[in-house]
Order: sequence, then structure tokens, then C-alpha cells
Amino acid sequence: MSNNDIQRTVTVRIQRFNPDVDKKPHMQDYQVKMWPGMTILDALHEIKTHQDGSVTYRRSCRHGICGSCAMHINGRNTLACKTPIINEVQKNDTVTIGPLPYLPVIKDMVVDRTSFWEQYLRVKPWLLPPNDIPEKEFRMSQEEVDALHDAEACIMCGACYSSCAVIGLNKKYLGPHALLKAFLRVLDPRDTAPAERLEIVSQADGVARCHTIFNCIDACPKGLNPTQAIETLRKLAQKRQKYEEARRERQKHLNEPIPS
Ligand code: F3S
Repeated sequence: MSNNDIQRTVTVRIQRFNPDVDKKPHMQDYQVKMWPGMTILDALHEIKTHQDGSVTYRRSCRHGICGSCAMHINGRNTLACKTPIINEVQKNDTVTIGPLPYLPVIKDMVVDRTSFWEQYLRVKPWLLPPNDIPEKEFRMSQEEVDALHDAEACIMCGACYSSCAVIGLNKKYLGPHALLKAFLRVLDPRDTAPAERLEIVSQADGVARCHTIFNCIDACPKGLNPTQAIETLRKLAQKRQKYEEARRERQKHLNEPIPS
């Protein structure tokens, strides 16, 4: 950031909507003086603290971990706390902020995530481990860890979910977030129910509804790849019984050291 940028005042254009008083959303502009390292979330704090306390948004950790501050910034879904404002105001000194698309707005940037969590719970996102828990630890090979493609790094921010045009049409679709979680459990050698999970994702509103639009990849602030996970689930679902048998075999050796 140059000295000129430090002095720069930019326009933060926010979509406002309070269903108690507004018939439809409208845009409202605020002027904010940037500082070095300022993020979009910092700018929102600045506005809320010094200009307009009614501006409403979710936030918590400020470090890209909690997923609370996902919103629509200059036409794409991302985390406000991880987005430097300087990167967003290059062209016309304006940044436009709104709520995540396709979800009912509670107020301003706060959306109702009920459908997001409902779909998430449908895939039983928790691990179902074997009865025989080792005294110390399960042993996974490096290949087994690599196959998870960092899917455990998902912070459930909803950026992928609300970027998917299929969700815009059909809230019954499981969605990229839930399918990524199903993928994580199906590929985890500790999990005892891969066939049941693959059955769930094979149902009408599961993997078949994905039209490989790829918006979910572009939106993920953690650089994850839900589309690839969905593709893997599709393939595994076709041989789910065999896959589960192989899993049972694998689990007989989960306590043993991995040969190097
Ligand atoms: Fe939606 Fe991603 Fe598939 S955007 S249609 S889940 S590739």
C-alpha cells in the first residue's frame, strides 16, 4: 500500500434490508478512510462503530477460522476478514457488499442458514468409528491422508453453498458443503459406514444434482475442491458394497504401524 493509498477514502456500498421496515433491499454508501492492512471486516466495524450502528453482519474470530463473516463482496462469495479492502477498490474506489445469495435475508448481511445446516445433517457428518478403539491411536498411511484432499479444512462458512446455482433452484440438494463432508467420512479408513453414506449421497437430491458448475471451487476461501469430492463419491457409490468390504478388511489393521 502506497502513502497515497493510506490517505485514500473509499466508498463502501452495502446492501441494506430490514424485513421489519423495508419492502425490498436498497444500497447505502459509506465513506471509509483506509489504513494499511484494512480488511473488509475492518471497514464494516469502522462503519458500525463510528457511522451507523444499525449495519448488521456476523463475525467472530477475524482469522478465517470460524466462517461467520462469509458474504458477497464485489460479486463473489468470500470471507470479509480475509479480504484486504485495497484489493477490492482498485478500479473505482468502491467496494460493494451484500449477503450470501440464494438464502433468505434476516437483516443486511445476516442470512438464514437453516437449509445449509439441514443438508449438512443429512449426511451424518460425524465419524462412526469401529468398536475396537486403540489405546493410543489409529494409524493412517500417507496415501490415505492425501486422499482426503484437505477436506477437513472446511470451516462451514457457506460460501460454496450459496454460490451454487443448483441451490438457487432446489434447496433440497445436499450441496457442496455436505457432500464434501460426506467425502471426508467415506474416505476416512476409521469410518465404519461408508456404504450407508454412499447410499445417502446417491439419493435423488445428492451427487446426481451437481451440474459441475464449479462455482463452489471458486468461492471456497480455503481453496478446497468440492467438485472433485462429488466426482469421487459418484464413482464410489457405484461399488459401495465392495468398498465397505474393503473398509472392514482395512480396519483389522488400523492399530498396526504403517510400513515405510
Ligand atoms: Fe454446485 Fe459446485 Fe456442483 S457449484 S453444481 S456443487 S460443481
